[in-house]
Amino acid sequence: MKYFEYRSDQNTLQEKQIEKDLPYENSGLTVPERVEDLLQRMSLHEKIGQMTQLDITVINTTGEQKDVALDPEKAREMIRKHHIGSFLNGEAVPPRTWYEYMNELTRIAVEETRLGIPIIYGIDHIHGASYLEGATIFPQNNNIAASFSTKHAYNAGLVTALESADLGHHWIFAPILDLGVNPLWARLWETYGEDPVLAGVMGASFVLGLQNNDDGTTSRQAATGKHFLGYSDPRSGWDRTPAQLSMQHIHEFHRPAFQKAVDAGLKTIMVNSGEINGVPVLASHEILTKLLREEMGFDGVVITDWDDIGKLVNFHYTAKNFKEATFDAVMAGIDMSMTPLHLKFNSSLLELVEEGRITEERIDASVRRILKLKFELGLFEHPYPRDDRFNRIGNEDNRNKALEAARESIVLLKNDHNILPVKKASRIGVLGPSANSKKNLNGGWTIAWQGGRESQYPDGMHTVCSALAEEFPEAEVVLFEPADIPRHGEATASTRKAFIDRLNNLDVLIYAGGEEPYCEFAGNISDLRLPREQVDDLELISRSRSPIVLVLVQGRPRLINDVMDDSAAIIHAGLPGFEGARAIAEVISGRVNPSGRMPVSYPMKPNHFLPYNHKRSNLYFFDPAVANQLVQGNVTTSRFPFGYGLSYTTFEYADLKLSAQSMDAKGSISASVRVTNTGMVEGTEPVLWYTSTHVGRITRPVKELKHFERVLLKPGESATCKFVIDPGQLAYPDENGNLILETGAYSVMAGDRKQEFEVTGA
Ligand code: BGC
Repeated sequence: MKYFEYRSDQNTLQEKQIEKDLPYENSGLTVPERVEDLLQRMSLHEKIGQMTQLDITVINTTGEQKDVALDPEKAREMIRKHHIGSFLNGEAVPPRTWYEYMNELTRIAVEETRLGIPIIYGIDHIHGASYLEGATIFPQNNNIAASFSTKHAYNAGLVTALESADLGHHWIFAPILDLGVNPLWARLWETYGEDPVLAGVMGASFVLGLQNNDDGTTSRQAATGKHFLGYSDPRSGWDRTPAQLSMQHIHEFHRPAFQKAVDAGLKTIMVNSGEINGVPVLASHEILTKLLREEMGFDGVVITDWDDIGKLVNFHYTAKNFKEATFDAVMAGIDMSMTPLHLKFNSSLLELVEEGRITEERIDASVRRILKLKFELGLFEHPYPRDDRFNRIGNEDNRNKALEAARESIVLLKNDHNILPVKKASRIGVLGPSANSKKNLNGGWTIAWQGGRESQYPDGMHTVCSALAEEFPEAEVVLFEPADIPRHGEATASTRKAFIDRLNNLDVLIYAGGEEPYCEFAGNISDLRLPREQVDDLELISRSRSPIVLVLVQGRPRLINDVMDDSAAIIHAGLPGFEGARAIAEVISGRVNPSGRMPVSYPMKPNHFLPYNHKRSNLYFFDPAVANQLVQGNVTTSRFPFGYGLSYTTFEYADLKLSAQSMDAKGSISASVRVTNTGMVEGTEPVLWYTSTHVGRITRPVKELKHFERVLLKPGESATCKFVIDPGQLAYPDENGNLILETGAYSVMAGDRKQEFEVTGA
C-alpha cells in the first residue's frame, strides 16, 4: 500500500510503501485478531489521536458550523500530524456536499497516513438525518413515545441509516435514554418520556433499527445511548445543573433504559455533563466503570459530551487544570474525548503517560474498543461514502413512515361537546405563533443546533395552516399572523372589537401555540406556564362566539390552567416533525382518530411536579378522604396523567382475569383483559398494563408500567389483550443493584380494571 509520510520538521510529504495485506487489513481474520495486529503497530501518539474527536469547525474552510467544506490542509494537519481519529458535526447541507466533504476527509485518513485507519464521523441525527438537506424528519422522541408503538422508534433508526450511512455519517448521537422526569428540563422533548420501561423498549428499538441495517457495501452506523446517566433529573430543572440521586434510585429508574439498549447491542455511550451527588459523572469511576462496565456489561466506546473535560475545570471546578481533568476522566473510564476545538486532550494525555501516571495498558484498553468499533462497522472495508443512492433520501416510503409516526403521536387532551373532529366547517380561522411556522414543529437539532431558520425548511413542508387548507379543500382557511392580533395596550378597544367580530364569522378557531425551537441550556426557563402573550391571545379570542381548538406545538408540557376553559378542545401535538402539520390537520378533520397518550405527566400546578410512578408518600394530605384516594393511587399532581389521551371513540375494559391467584419466584401468571370499542368510529387503544407492589422494604411507586400494546378496533369490536407477569418484572433493585422480590400482595391494572395476586415464598 502506498502512503505519504508527513515530515513536520520539513512540512513535506514523502511517498512511502508499506507491505500489502497486513493482518489487520485482512477481513478474513476475526475482529480481535485485526485489532491486536493494528494496535501493536501503533505509536503512543497514534493511539492518543484515536481517542480524540474534533469538531468540523477545526477542519473546514470558514470555522463556522454551517460550512461542510473541507480545508484539506487543516484536515491533513489534524489527521497526519496529530493522528486524530474522529470528527463531528455540521449542519443540513445537500447530500452531494456531505459526500464530497466525507470523501476527501476519508481519503486523507486512509491514503495519506502510515496505517490508513479510517476516521469515524459523529453527528446529531436525532430524529431522522436532521443535518441533511432533503432528509425524512421524524417526530422527536417524546412524540415517538406518545405513540406507544416501538415500530416508530425502529423506523426512525432505520430511515436515519438508509438516508445517511452512505454519506459517511458513521456515528449517530442518538438515542437519548434519559428519563423525561422534569418538565422544566429543556431536553424533555428529546426523551422517550418518564417511564423506564417505555424509554427502554423505545430506545432499544431505535438501536436495532439503526445499527442492524446491513445493505451490502455501505459501512454500518453506531448508535449512542446518551447521556449516561441521571442527566435529565437536575434539581433546578436547568440543563447540566446538579442532580441528587441515590444509587438505589439510579438502579431502579435511570439505569433500565440504558441497560435495555446495551442488551440490544448498543455500540457507544455518551457521558452526562452534569454532576450527581457532588461528583461530575465524567469523573466518576463508580458510574463509568463500576456501574457501566462491570455491572451493566457494556463493552463499547464511551465518549465524553462536548468539551466536558474542560468543564471539569471551568464549570464544575473539580480539577485545577486540563491535564488533571484529563487524568480524572480517563481514569473514570472514558475512551474518547469530544474535546472538540483544540488539542489539549492529546498533549495532556501524552504527558500523563510519559510521566507514568497513566499506563499505556490503560490507553490500549480504550484504543482496542475504538478500533473494534471501526472494524465492526466495516470502515476498513468500506471507508468511502457513496453517491449512487441519493434518491433514497426523503423518498416516499421513508416519509410515509414519518407521517405514520406523527399521526400516532398526537394526543387529544380535551374535546368538549365533541367539537372535534371538525366536520362541516366552511370558514376556519388559524392563529397563534405556530400557525404558519415550520421550525416550531421540529424543535432543536433540526437543520441546525437551535433549529435553523424558517427559510431553511423545505418548500414542500406544510405548516399547520397550509395543511388545514389542503385537508379542508372546500373551506376558506383564514390565517391571522401574530401581528394581526390586536393586543391589549397596543390596539384600541374598537380595533379589538372589530377583530372579535371577524372571528365571529368563522366556524372554528385553530390556535397553534406552544414553544419556539430551543436546545440544551438555551431552552432553560423559570416558569412553565404557557407564555403570557399566548394566554392573552386566547383570552381575547375566547370573547368571540367561535369555538377554539388549542394546538400545543411544544417540547415540554407548558401549564395551561389559564386557558383550559377558553378552549373547547386541546391537542398536545408535541414536536411532530416535517410531516407533523399534516398529521395535526388529519386529526382535526377526523381522517385520523387520535391515539397518542401522554408519555409524561402533564403538570397541573406550577410548583409540584411528580411523575406518575411517584411514591405513595409523595402526596401527603390531612384530609382522610383524600388520603384514602391517595393510597389507591388515584390522586395526582397532573392535569393529564401519564398514559392519558382521548379518542373519537370510546373503549371499555372488562373481564380482567388471571390464570392463577398466586405464584412463587419461579412461576408466572397470565393476565388477560377484554377491550371493546363502544363508540361509533374505528379507533386504536394503547392498552397499558401496570402493576403495584402493596408493601415493599424500599418504598414502592404507586404503580409501574410493565407492558403495552396497541389494538385497532372497529365499532363494536373486542380484543383480548394478554400480559404475562413474571417475577423478574416485579423485582426491584437495592442500592447495590441486587434484586429484591417482595412476597405478599400485588395488583395488576389495565384501563379501569384491577385484580390482586400474591407472590409466595420468594
Ligand atoms: C449535547 C449532545 C450532543 C453533542 C454533540 C452536546 O452539547 O449535549 O447531546 O450529541 O453536543 O453535538
